[in-house]
Amino acid sequence: MRIELKEILKNKAINGWRLFWLIATPMSIVMIIAMMGADMSNGAGVSEMIGFSVRFAVPFIYLVVAASSVQILFPGTFPMWWLRNRPYIGMCFAVAMAWQGMFIFIMSNFFRDYYYADVYLLRDELEGTIGYIFLPAMVVTSFQFGRKHLNPMQWKLIHKSGIYFLWAYPFSVYWWNLNYYENPQTIDYIFYWGGFLAFALRIAAWGKLRQQAAASTTPFAFKALGATIIVFGLFVSASGLYWREAVTTFLTTPKWSADLVLWFLFWPFEPYLSLFIIGLGTMLLTKVSTEARQQGVKAEFSQ
Ligand code: HEM
Repeated sequence: MRIELKEILKNKAINGWRLFWLIATPMSIVMIIAMMGADMSNGAGVSEMIGFSVRFAVPFIYLVVAASSVQILFPGTFPMWWLRNRPYIGMCFAVAMAWQGMFIFIMSNFFRDYYYADVYLLRDELEGTIGYIFLPAMVVTSFQFGRKHLNPMQWKLIHKSGIYFLWAYPFSVYWWNLNYYENPQTIDYIFYWGGFLAFALRIAAWGKLRQQAAASTTPFAFKALGATIIVFGLFVSASGLYWREAVTTFLTTPKWSADLVLWFLFWPFEPYLSLFIIGLGTMLLTKVSTEARQQGVKAEFSQ
């Protein structure tokens, strides 16, 4: 008997709140077991639990970021299931982050000396705190009682910026793990490339929509230039170890820029340079001449 994927994905157990509980319950059990095995009587043990818990959260935010793009690029049963369940996948992220939040609370309250000596850095603190402001705001406004206080534009603003911010934080952590700190672990590679892929899919989906909306072909020169820039962006994404130091030195040469590093979030954006470049390449690859765009608009109006 052949069971259709469509039928399987309709199963109530893997949809909506049931999907959430299916993931969040075992995840929380694992967290409790790990906590019992960890040495929670000192700052280092609690710090380990902070890292452990956030590793559960990261895949979920990447899945949330990629959901709509996968449906645009490869429309189908599975991407549709993924997109439909995006809010619940987001809630699983929030649960793992709540565990991290609890460990952070324990550390900053009970192991203050360790926290200020070994962890505290103003910019990291600002970035982390902003993440923890977005998180509850997004959770509360995911429910009707919170959502009703916002208009659709405000809701979209909170959720879009929150998702991007909560993606940007771990993505940059793993970029730095690979390109600055010595001896990266396998998980650093997985989470860096996972975050890269999630955002690259968004760029590709944006490019696909641009091309469809233009309803006209891109001049060859733009295509060639766009494709070359994308290839260069891919090279940049995989070679940070070779250019990171020189680029950071160059970008922080003016004093105002060096000062910004102390507090301005993610400045000077080294982890994201490859994605900026790929975005630019995609823009050129899908660019149509003004004339063709006007013709496309005219054709649309005449329908
Ligand atoms: C004020 C808030 C925050 C503080 C004080 C904080 C603190 C920490 C600490 C101490 C570690 C190191 C754990 C270890 O020893 O391995 C860590 C790791 C990490 N944190 Fe945070 N964090 C905060 C917010 C956030 C937020 C909002 C995110 C976004 C998702 C995040 C993502 C990460 C990631 C990805 C790691 C690396 C985990 C790994 O080792 O793989 N943190 N954090």
